[in-house]
Amino acid sequence: MKYMFVFANFAANSLGLPFIHPYLDSIRANFSHGANFATAGSTIRRPNTTIFRSGSNPSSPFSLDVQSGQFSQFKNRSQWAYNREGVFKELLPKGDFFSRGLYTFDIGQNDITAEDYLNMTAAQVSAALTDILDKFAVVLKEVYEQGGRSFWIHNTGPLGCLASALDPRNFTKDQFDQAGCAIPLNELAQKFNMRLNQTVVQLRKDLPLAAFTYVDVYSAKYNLFKQPEKYGFEHPLMVCCGTGGKYNFNSDARCGDFIIVNGTETIVGACKDPSTRIIWDGVHYTEAANDWVFKQIADGAFSDPPIPLRMACHKEIDPSTS
Ligand SMILES: *[C@@H]1O[C@H](CO)[C@@H](O)[C@H](O)[C@H]1NC(C)=O
Ligand SMILES: *[C@@H]1O[C@H](CO)[C@@H](O)[C@H](O)[C@H]1NC(C)=O
Ligand SMILES: *[C@@H]1O[C@H](CO)[C@@H](O)[C@H](O)[C@H]1NC(C)=O
Ligand SMILES: *[C@@H]1O[C@H](CO)[C@@H](O)[C@H](O)[C@H]1NC(C)=O
Ligand SMILES: *[C@@H]1O[C@H](CO)[C@@H](O)[C@H](O)[C@H]1NC(C)=O
Ligand SMILES: *[C@@H]1O[C@H](CO)[C@@H](O)[C@H](O)[C@H]1NC(C)=O
Repeated sequence: MKYMFVFANFAANSLGLPFIHPYLDSIRANFSHGANFATAGSTIRRPNTTIFRSGSNPSSPFSLDVQSGQFSQFKNRSQWAYNREGVFKELLPKGDFFSRGLYTFDIGQNDITAEDYLNMTAAQVSAALTDILDKFAVVLKEVYEQGGRSFWIHNTGPLGCLASALDPRNFTKDQFDQAGCAIPLNELAQKFNMRLNQTVVQLRKDLPLAAFTYVDVYSAKYNLFKQPEKYGFEHPLMVCCGTGGKYNFNSDARCGDFIIVNGTETIVGACKDPSTRIIWDGVHYTEAANDWVFKQIADGAFSDPPIPLRMACHKEIDPSTS
């Protein structure tokens, strides 16, 4: 759940809750309002590799199935501890929290950058997407089995607008759209999103007691690339924290890396005003862009069904069918 951390925090903030601690944060974490299982670079499928792949991220060992295992462990252990007396009652969720809580998912982009899908046949891409989304559905059902009833699911963003995906490839002129994003990569992201939507439609049938909100983050983000100035942003494709190349991005000298320039060691740092930029490091969005995207989606304008975040936990159950 790669981007969930930022989103979870904006979400918690907008609901008047404190920030949500990462599950692996063992010291002084307060999980009474939730836990965050997201890690950078995580995939739905088990990763093949732990090293850098061309143009993509180093993959995380915490793929979605592992995160699901961590969640079960969190539930079991936290309830064991909660039921002892003492400080745990203040640091861990109550038992009924698990069925009342909102489970948010934002994952899949790293799966579609893990392999060179642009070089595969349509049938190969289709088979891979089927496998990826089958594994996604398995995890949602596991969370349901553990009591989860409300799900807030982001689709994946416009991959073809990210420097890390654009930089290693030589697209021809006619492969760029008006925003400067690569059409073949955006088409791949949209193929994934179409399958994700179909998966959610099926989950609604399989798990009628649960509420699923599908959020079209792709469209919200793409609007930003199409009309950056309108929303107070500039140089939409340029990386803020990076160096070199067409997009201020170099996979060998990324944000925070040490590099030697004219014999002196320096750190690859941020642009002057990150609040006017969309892309932070070539993969992730800036705080300003995430904030903008969150404001776009929080009221339900990009959601199916079109309900706002604060209502996503309330499924109207028709008494005649329950
Ligand atoms: C792992 O790599 C192999 C060989 O390249 C490929 O066939 C397989 O689909 C990959 N698995 C995933 C999860 O990416
Ligand atoms: C943990 O967070 C909850 C909710 O904000 C708060 O009520 C509680 O006092 C906190 N516990 C500790 C020990 O900080
Ligand atoms: C597909 O693979 C061929 C041969 O390995 C390579 O020359 C070509 O650049 C690749 N195309 C893309 C879009 O990556
Ligand atoms: C892309 O084009 C440049 C310039 O023509 C060339 O140096 C580079 O090797 C190409 N990269 C790939 C991945 O084909
Ligand atoms: C998801 O699929 C359903 C059924 O095909 C369709 O009615 C709906 O418009 C789709 N939603 C999105 C956001 O694409
Ligand atoms: C490195 O040295 C060259 C040549 O002296 C100079 O033009 C350039 O500005 C220097 N770059 C930095 C980052 O100091």
